[in-house]
Amino acid sequence: MASAFISVLKPNNLMALAEENFSPNFTVKNPIVISTWSHGIAANEGAWVILDNAGKSIDAVEAGVKVTEIDITNRSVGIGGRPDRDGHVTLDACIMDENSRCGAVGCIEGILHPISVARAVMDRTQHVMLVGEGARSFAIREGFETAKTPLKEVKKDWKEWKKEHKDEFKKPTINNENHDTIGMLAMDEFGNISGSCTTSGWAYKLHGRIGDSPIIGAGLFVDNEVGGACATGLGEAIIRIAGSHTVVELMRQGHHPQAACKMAVERIIAKHDDVTGLQCGFLAMNTKGQVGAYSVYNGFNYALRTKDRNAI
Ligand code: GLY
Repeated sequence: MASAFISVLKPNNLMALAEENFSPNFTVKNPIVISTWSHGIAANEGAWVILDNAGKSIDAVEAGVKVTEIDITNRSVGIGGRPDRDGHVTLDACIMDENSRCGAVGCIEGILHPISVARAVMDRTQHVMLVGEGARSFAIREGFETAKTPLKEVKKDWKEWKKEHKDEFKKPTINNENHDTIGMLAMDEFGNISGSCTTSGWAYKLHGRIGDSPIIGAGLFVDNEVGGACATGLGEAIIRIAGSHTVVELMRQGHHPQAACKMAVERIIAKHDDVTGLQCGFLAMNTKGQVGAYSVYNGFNYALRTKDRNAI
């Protein structure tokens, strides 16, 4: 087992159960890469090709999540993602390196690799975030590959959904079967940490909605002096507490990544009168190679790759 750090919180006994699920101290020698959900196993392999060849963590986290972005069976990341209410597949992504350089795209349509466009915003512009049609024009101008969305089968599902949910705004179901965002954190052999995050967001969202995933500090945050954190789940709740930044700042105060993720989740819970159906979680890594993860409800998992293993 790579880890057993997954929370088993139940809404009627939140704090008591949480205490029982603290991880033991766990340190690995870098390089190391972790990412959200079981789709993280394949993504980690993509990152590992870079890390295992003395590559940089920023290149690894870009290459890693690209594996998920081109998996057309994935309904919550990349071009296979579900559309918004109006039938548009709008994608969000961000990336951050060990020097606190960062880039993001929000609500971008018909581009194969939003994460690489986010990287280009970081590397080739003076900005941090481009959204919508401006992000798409930039991507095309910079030579990024386009893709036709939604996929045929995804469009069929959306049409069915429309028939049944004329005026209703459906809540997302985020669990083991409906994997949300992929967030990834890697530490290379030089000890430098970078992170990436990419998603198609909340299925059947309002057109124009952007979640936590492209927002630096919400879906992802890295400070090379401390560590990194990324988030998955209901973006609106994560944004409200600047989730990933909060986790990193808690680690800066000396908390283990596991404790930091748990405290951030507790803060989200405390800010909501009712957490029914509100699933979100954090994944974190510190400079010692210690990792942690925590979610509001059971069902969140992550994949960890080191020299010896790649497992959930
Ligand atoms: N965490 C993905 C989203 O809310 O869009």
